[in-house]
Amino acid sequence: MRIAVVGGTGEEGFGLALRLARAGHDVVIGSRDEAKAADAVSRAKAILGADAPVGGAANIDAVPGADVVIVTVPFAGQAKTYELLKPALVDGVVVLDATSPLATAVGGKAWEVLRPWAGSAAEQARAVVGPGPRFVAGFHTIAASALTDLDSPVDSDVLLAGDDAEAVAIIGSLADQIPGLRWVHVGGLAMARITETLTPLLISINRRYKRRDAGFRIVGESDWGAPAP
Ligand SMILES: NC(=O)c1ccc[n+]([C@@H]2O[C@H](COP(=O)([O-])OP(=O)(O)OC[C@H]3O[C@@H](n4cnc5c(N)ncnc54)[C@H](OP(=O)(O)O)[C@@H]3O)[C@@H](O)[C@H]2O)c1
Repeated sequence: MRIAVVGGTGEEGFGLALRLARAGHDVVIGSRDEAKAADAVSRAKAILGADAPVGGAANIDAVPGADVVIVTVPFAGQAKTYELLKPALVDGVVVLDATSPLATAVGGKAWEVLRPWAGSAAEQARAVVGPGPRFVAGFHTIAASALTDLDSPVDSDVLLAGDDAEAVAIIGSLADQIPGLRWVHVGGLAMARITETLTPLLISINRRYKRRDAGFRIVGESDWGAPAP
């Protein structure tokens, strides 16, 4: 699969880029600054090997031709990023939005959360872009530090919210290729109103226990994945 990671120079996007390139996907790391993208590609190749399937581009150039577009930018820049990407987001493309509306966007703390008017950051993104792209919100419970620690499996479940079950399953299949991860389809995109707030919860836990990699597991099944039809 060809995967664009918009904001892939940052912690979360870079971790996803590493894990997905290692799983064999063609990954393009996007940045507002082409030189910064190129630097991230060099860092990725230093970790994965010179032949790793990782390229870099300006965010807008990373998107055309991608099967999946992953957006990992801070909430403060999310709307502007989607306004930029909108012309390149074709009908049917799967968009994974990992944004958590942390209060840092307005000078608050990383363990405090904002309430976007649209309900969630993901719904706000869809409102900016309009119908066509298939939005999935997820990975809010997956710490960047765990993603970048390639020697260890990631000890957390991926909670995916989305209205299009096929798009959710496509993102779920990517999660399945990252050791340790399981995925759960938690409901429609509006469930991102809850899942996005789990990032500041985990940040608060990490802060109190002096950790970087607290995670989240849903008990009840040994393997969740796609719900029965
Ligand atoms: N870090 C985690 O463990 C974690 C876990 C779950 C969810 N998340 C969520 O994932 C998203 C990314 O997190 P992160 O920790 O990777 O963030 P980050 O490192 O602060 O930023 C990611 C990238 O976004 C770009 N960016 C920064 N400000 C921007 C702006 N105003 N407009 C457009 N692009 C901007 C930057 O790339 P360029 O300068 O190269 O353009 C930056 O490298 C956030 O919404 C966060 O809440 C993070």
